[in-house]
Amino acid sequence: MGKKVTVVGAGFYGSTTAQRLAEYDVFDTVVITDIVEGKPAGLALDLNQSRAIEGFETKLVGVTTGPNGEGYEAIEGSDVVVVTAGLPRKPGMSRMDLLETNAKIVRQVAENVAKYAPNAVVIVVSNPLDEMTALAQIATQFPHNRVLGQAGMLDTARFTNFVAEALGVPVASVRTLTLGSHGDTMVPVPSKSSVAGKPLREAMPAEQIEELVVKTRNGGAEVVALLKTGSAYYAPSAAAARMAKAVAEDSGEVMPVCAWVDGEYGIAGVYLGVEAEIGAQGVRRVVETDLDADERAALKEAAEAVRAKQSDVASM
Ligand code: LAC
Repeated sequence: MGKKVTVVGAGFYGSTTAQRLAEYDVFDTVVITDIVEGKPAGLALDLNQSRAIEGFETKLVGVTTGPNGEGYEAIEGSDVVVVTAGLPRKPGMSRMDLLETNAKIVRQVAENVAKYAPNAVVIVVSNPLDEMTALAQIATQFPHNRVLGQAGMLDTARFTNFVAEALGVPVASVRTLTLGSHGDTMVPVPSKSSVAGKPLREAMPAEQIEELVVKTRNGGAEVVALLKTGSAYYAPSAAAARMAKAVAEDSGEVMPVCAWVDGEYGIAGVYLGVEAEIGAQGVRRVVETDLDADERAALKEAAEAVRAKQSDVASM
Protein backbone atom coordinates (compact mmCIF):
# COMPACT_ATOMS: atom_id res chain seq x y z
CA MET A 1 0.00 0.00 0.00
CA GLY A 2 1.12 3.52 -0.65
CA LYS A 3 2.71 5.44 2.16
CA LYS A 4 1.11 8.35 3.92
CA VAL A 5 2.80 11.01 5.99
CA THR A 6 1.26 13.84 7.97
CA VAL A 7 2.93 17.10 8.89
CA VAL A 8 1.19 18.88 11.76
CA GLY A 9 1.75 22.62 11.58
CA ALA A 10 1.89 24.67 8.38
CA GLY A 11 4.43 27.28 9.45
CA PHE A 12 7.76 27.53 7.66
CA TYR A 13 9.11 24.37 9.28
CA GLY A 14 5.98 22.36 8.46
CA SER A 15 5.53 23.67 4.94
CA THR A 16 9.16 23.14 3.93
CA THR A 17 9.05 19.64 5.44
CA ALA A 18 5.90 18.87 3.43
CA GLN A 19 7.56 20.19 0.29
CA ARG A 20 10.67 18.05 0.77
CA LEU A 21 8.58 14.96 1.52
CA ALA A 22 6.46 15.49 -1.58
CA GLU A 23 9.49 16.07 -3.81
CA TYR A 24 11.05 12.77 -2.70
CA ASP A 25 8.11 11.21 -4.57
CA VAL A 26 8.05 8.16 -2.28
CA PHE A 27 4.73 8.85 -0.54
CA ASP A 28 1.24 8.50 -1.96
CA THR A 29 -0.03 11.29 0.24
CA VAL A 30 1.38 14.12 2.30
CA VAL A 31 -1.21 15.63 4.65
CA ILE A 32 -0.49 19.03 6.10
CA THR A 33 -2.59 20.38 8.95
CA ASP A 34 -2.82 23.64 10.84
CA ILE A 35 -5.28 25.46 13.06
CA VAL A 36 -5.26 28.47 10.72
CA GLU A 37 -8.31 28.42 8.44
CA GLY A 38 -7.38 27.86 4.80
CA LYS A 39 -3.60 27.94 5.17
CA PRO A 40 -2.88 24.19 4.89
CA ALA A 41 -5.33 23.85 1.99
CA GLY A 42 -3.70 26.78 0.24
CA LEU A 43 -0.20 25.35 0.68
CA ALA A 44 -1.34 21.91 -0.49
CA LEU A 45 -2.97 23.42 -3.58
CA ASP A 46 0.14 25.43 -4.36
CA LEU A 47 2.43 22.41 -3.89
CA ASN A 48 0.15 20.21 -6.02
CA GLN A 49 0.43 22.80 -8.77
CA SER A 50 4.22 22.30 -8.69
CA ARG A 51 3.92 18.55 -9.37
CA ALA A 52 4.10 18.83 -13.13
CA ILE A 53 7.22 20.96 -12.93
CA GLU A 54 9.11 19.08 -10.23
CA GLY A 55 7.86 15.75 -11.53
CA PHE A 56 6.35 14.04 -8.51
CA GLU A 57 3.11 12.09 -8.17
CA THR A 58 2.67 12.48 -4.40
CA LYS A 59 -0.59 14.27 -3.62
CA LEU A 60 -0.79 16.90 -0.94
CA VAL A 61 -3.88 17.40 1.18
CA GLY A 62 -4.27 20.43 3.44
CA VAL A 63 -6.64 20.35 6.41
CA THR A 64 -7.55 22.89 9.05
CA THR A 65 -8.07 21.26 12.44
CA GLY A 66 -10.39 22.47 15.18
CA PRO A 67 -10.08 22.74 18.97
CA ASN A 68 -11.94 19.46 19.52
CA GLY A 69 -9.97 17.44 17.02
CA GLU A 70 -12.14 18.36 14.04
CA GLY A 71 -10.36 17.54 10.79
CA TYR A 72 -7.97 15.00 12.29
CA GLU A 73 -9.76 12.15 10.50
CA ALA A 74 -7.66 13.24 7.49
CA ILE A 75 -4.53 11.80 9.14
CA GLU A 76 -5.99 8.28 9.44
CA GLY A 77 -3.64 5.61 8.17
CA SER A 78 -0.52 7.78 8.37
CA ASP A 79 2.69 5.78 8.61
CA VAL A 80 4.55 8.79 9.95
CA VAL A 81 3.43 12.00 11.64
CA VAL A 82 5.87 14.91 11.91
CA VAL A 83 4.83 17.27 14.69
CA THR A 84 5.99 20.84 14.05
CA ALA A 85 3.16 22.47 16.00
CA GLY A 86 4.01 25.15 18.52
CA LEU A 87 5.61 28.55 18.62
CA PRO A 88 9.14 29.20 17.38
CA ARG A 89 11.66 31.28 19.29
CA LYS A 90 11.87 35.05 19.00
CA PRO A 91 15.23 36.84 19.23
CA GLY A 92 16.73 36.51 22.71
CA MET A 93 14.57 33.54 23.72
CA SER A 94 15.96 30.18 24.70
CA ARG A 95 14.17 27.03 23.53
CA MET A 96 13.20 26.39 27.16
CA ASP A 97 11.19 29.65 27.24
CA LEU A 98 8.68 27.87 24.99
CA LEU A 99 8.12 24.97 27.41
CA GLU A 100 4.70 25.74 28.86
CA THR A 101 3.11 27.20 25.74
CA ASN A 102 4.27 24.43 23.47
CA ALA A 103 3.50 21.69 26.01
CA LYS A 104 -0.21 22.56 25.77
CA ILE A 105 -0.11 22.52 21.98
CA VAL A 106 1.96 19.34 21.63
CA ARG A 107 -0.15 17.44 24.16
CA GLN A 108 -3.33 18.23 22.26
CA VAL A 109 -1.79 17.28 18.94
CA ALA A 110 -0.36 14.05 20.36
CA GLU A 111 -3.73 13.00 21.78
CA ASN A 112 -5.34 13.45 18.37
CA VAL A 113 -2.53 11.57 16.66
CA ALA A 114 -3.02 8.66 19.08
CA LYS A 115 -6.74 8.67 18.33
CA TYR A 116 -6.62 8.95 14.54
CA ALA A 117 -3.26 7.43 13.58
CA PRO A 118 -2.62 4.86 16.32
CA ASN A 119 -0.01 2.96 14.32
CA ALA A 120 2.06 5.95 13.22
CA VAL A 121 5.66 6.70 14.04
CA VAL A 122 5.75 10.19 15.54
CA ILE A 123 8.67 12.51 14.81
CA VAL A 124 8.63 15.58 17.05
CA VAL A 125 10.44 18.78 16.11
CA SER A 126 8.68 21.28 18.41
CA ASN A 127 10.84 22.99 21.01
CA PRO A 128 12.18 22.51 23.59
CA LEU A 129 12.85 19.38 21.60
CA ASP A 130 13.86 16.76 24.15
CA GLU A 131 11.00 17.71 26.46
CA MET A 132 8.36 17.87 23.71
CA THR A 133 9.44 14.43 22.48
CA ALA A 134 9.05 13.01 25.99
CA LEU A 135 5.65 14.68 26.28
CA ALA A 136 4.45 13.30 22.95
CA GLN A 137 5.26 9.78 24.13
CA ILE A 138 3.38 10.35 27.39
CA ALA A 139 0.36 11.84 25.62
CA THR A 140 0.17 9.22 22.86
CA GLN A 141 1.08 6.30 25.12
CA PHE A 142 2.83 4.84 22.08
CA PRO A 143 5.76 2.51 22.69
CA HIS A 144 8.94 4.55 23.12
CA ASN A 145 10.44 3.33 19.85
CA ARG A 146 7.55 4.89 17.90
CA VAL A 147 8.13 8.40 19.27
CA LEU A 148 11.37 10.18 18.45
CA GLY A 149 12.62 13.70 17.99
CA GLN A 150 14.63 15.57 15.39
CA ALA A 151 17.65 17.49 16.58
CA GLY A 152 20.88 15.53 16.28
CA MET A 153 20.84 15.47 12.50
CA LEU A 154 20.40 19.22 12.45
CA ASP A 155 23.11 19.95 15.01
CA THR A 156 25.43 17.52 13.25
CA ALA A 157 24.73 19.14 9.87
CA ARG A 158 25.47 22.57 11.32
CA PHE A 159 28.75 21.33 12.83
CA THR A 160 29.71 19.69 9.53
CA ASN A 161 28.93 22.86 7.59
CA PHE A 162 31.01 25.05 9.90
CA VAL A 163 33.97 22.64 9.77
CA ALA A 164 33.79 22.47 5.97
CA GLU A 165 33.60 26.27 5.70
CA ALA A 166 36.48 26.80 8.13
CA LEU A 167 38.76 24.41 6.24
CA GLY A 168 37.52 25.30 2.76
CA VAL A 169 36.74 21.66 1.94
CA PRO A 170 33.59 20.04 0.51
CA VAL A 171 30.92 19.26 3.12
CA ALA A 172 30.85 15.73 1.69
CA SER A 173 34.39 15.15 2.98
CA VAL A 174 33.48 16.07 6.56
CA ARG A 175 31.94 13.78 9.16
CA THR A 176 30.87 15.09 12.52
CA LEU A 177 28.61 13.95 15.31
CA THR A 178 26.64 15.65 18.06
CA LEU A 179 24.76 13.87 20.82
CA GLY A 180 23.04 14.99 24.03
CA SER A 181 20.34 17.61 24.14
CA HIS A 182 19.14 20.10 21.53
CA GLY A 183 20.20 22.94 23.77
CA ASP A 184 22.85 23.96 26.24
CA THR A 185 23.94 20.38 26.89
CA MET A 186 24.52 19.48 23.27
CA VAL A 187 27.52 17.12 23.17
CA PRO A 188 29.80 17.46 20.17
CA VAL A 189 31.86 14.35 19.54
CA PRO A 190 35.23 15.31 18.03
CA SER A 191 36.53 11.76 18.52
CA LYS A 192 34.01 10.60 15.91
CA SER A 193 34.58 13.54 13.56
CA SER A 194 36.85 13.50 10.55
CA VAL A 195 37.91 15.39 7.45
CA ALA A 196 38.63 13.29 4.36
CA GLY A 197 39.07 10.32 6.68
CA LYS A 198 41.54 12.12 8.94
CA PRO A 199 40.56 12.74 12.60
CA LEU A 200 39.16 16.25 13.08
CA ARG A 201 41.61 16.78 15.93
CA GLU A 202 44.47 16.41 13.43
CA ALA A 203 42.78 18.69 10.89
CA MET A 204 42.38 21.70 13.20
CA PRO A 205 43.59 22.90 16.61
CA ALA A 206 41.52 22.22 19.73
CA GLU A 207 40.65 25.92 20.17
CA GLN A 208 39.20 26.10 16.68
CA ILE A 209 37.13 22.95 17.25
CA GLU A 210 35.79 24.53 20.44
CA GLU A 211 34.96 27.74 18.54
CA LEU A 212 32.97 25.77 15.96
CA VAL A 213 31.25 23.78 18.71
CA VAL A 214 30.06 27.04 20.26
CA LYS A 215 28.93 28.23 16.82
CA THR A 216 27.04 24.98 16.34
CA ARG A 217 25.38 25.22 19.74
CA ASN A 218 24.29 28.76 18.84
CA GLY A 219 23.50 27.81 15.24
CA GLY A 220 19.74 28.06 15.76
CA ALA A 221 19.87 31.24 17.86
CA GLU A 222 22.00 32.98 15.24
CA VAL A 223 19.35 32.30 12.60
CA VAL A 224 16.59 33.52 14.94
CA ALA A 225 18.51 36.74 15.60
CA LEU A 226 18.78 37.40 11.86
CA LEU A 227 15.26 36.38 10.84
CA LYS A 228 13.69 38.17 13.83
CA THR A 229 10.27 36.67 13.08
CA GLY A 230 10.91 32.99 13.73
CA SER A 231 13.47 30.23 13.74
CA ALA A 232 15.38 28.19 11.19
CA TYR A 233 13.53 25.89 8.83
CA TYR A 234 15.57 24.85 5.78
CA ALA A 235 18.14 22.76 7.65
CA PRO A 236 15.64 21.59 10.29
CA SER A 237 13.11 20.45 7.67
CA ALA A 238 15.83 18.67 5.69
CA ALA A 239 16.64 16.63 8.79
CA ALA A 240 13.02 15.87 9.73
CA ALA A 241 12.10 14.87 6.19
CA ARG A 242 15.07 12.47 5.93
CA MET A 243 13.98 10.82 9.16
CA ALA A 244 10.41 10.41 7.91
CA LYS A 245 11.73 8.94 4.66
CA ALA A 246 13.90 6.45 6.57
CA VAL A 247 10.79 5.32 8.47
CA ALA A 248 8.67 5.04 5.33
CA GLU A 249 11.35 3.05 3.52
CA ASP A 250 12.26 0.96 6.58
CA SER A 251 15.81 1.85 5.61
CA GLY A 252 17.77 0.96 8.74
CA GLU A 253 19.85 4.12 8.39
CA VAL A 254 21.75 5.17 11.49
CA MET A 255 20.99 8.78 12.35
CA PRO A 256 21.56 11.04 15.34
CA VAL A 257 18.05 11.51 16.77
CA CYS A 258 16.34 12.13 20.07
CA ALA A 259 15.44 8.61 21.22
CA TRP A 260 14.45 6.79 24.37
CA VAL A 261 17.61 5.54 26.03
CA ASP A 262 17.30 2.40 28.10
CA GLY A 263 20.68 1.37 29.44
CA GLU A 264 22.96 2.49 26.62
CA TYR A 265 25.97 4.51 27.83
CA GLY A 266 24.90 3.58 31.37
CA ILE A 267 21.90 5.94 30.98
CA ALA A 268 18.27 4.87 31.26
CA GLY A 269 14.74 6.22 31.25
CA VAL A 270 15.19 9.44 29.33
CA TYR A 271 14.83 10.90 25.83
CA LEU A 272 18.29 11.95 24.67
CA GLY A 273 20.20 12.68 21.48
CA VAL A 274 21.92 9.45 20.45
CA GLU A 275 22.55 7.57 17.23
CA ALA A 276 19.81 5.13 16.33
CA GLU A 277 18.89 2.76 13.55
CA ILE A 278 15.65 3.98 11.97
CA GLY A 279 13.04 1.71 10.44
CA ALA A 280 9.32 1.24 9.92
CA GLN A 281 8.71 1.03 13.66
CA GLY A 282 10.74 4.13 14.39
CA VAL A 283 13.83 3.36 16.45
CA ARG A 284 15.00 -0.20 15.80
CA ARG A 285 17.82 0.18 18.29
CA VAL A 286 20.03 2.80 19.86
CA VAL A 287 23.53 2.49 18.46
CA GLU A 288 26.11 2.94 21.18
CA THR A 289 29.36 4.31 19.87
CA ASP A 290 32.76 4.43 21.60
CA LEU A 291 33.21 7.78 23.27
CA ASP A 292 36.14 9.43 25.00
CA ALA A 293 35.84 9.65 28.77
CA ASP A 294 35.04 13.38 28.62
CA GLU A 295 32.44 12.92 25.86
CA ARG A 296 30.83 10.13 27.87
CA ALA A 297 30.75 12.32 30.98
CA ALA A 298 29.19 15.18 28.99
CA LEU A 299 26.51 12.83 27.66
CA LYS A 300 25.65 11.71 31.21
CA GLU A 301 25.44 15.34 32.27
CA ALA A 302 23.12 16.09 29.34
CA ALA A 303 20.93 13.14 30.32
CA GLU A 304 20.54 14.43 33.87
CA ALA A 305 19.75 17.95 32.67
CA VAL A 306 16.98 16.80 30.32
CA ARG A 307 15.70 14.17 32.75
CA ALA A 308 14.79 16.85 35.28
CA LYS A 309 12.84 18.86 32.70
CA GLN A 310 11.22 15.81 31.13
CA SER A 311 9.66 14.83 34.44
CA ASP A 312 8.09 18.31 34.60
CA VAL A 313 6.23 17.89 31.31
CA ALA A 314 4.25 14.88 32.55
CA SER A 315 1.97 17.29 34.42
CA MET A 316 1.74 19.86 31.63
C1 LAC B 1 16.85 25.30 15.59
C2 LAC B 1 15.47 25.14 16.11
C3 LAC B 1 14.51 24.71 15.08
O1 LAC B 1 17.76 24.73 16.17
O2 LAC B 1 15.46 24.32 17.23
O3 LAC B 1 17.00 25.99 14.59
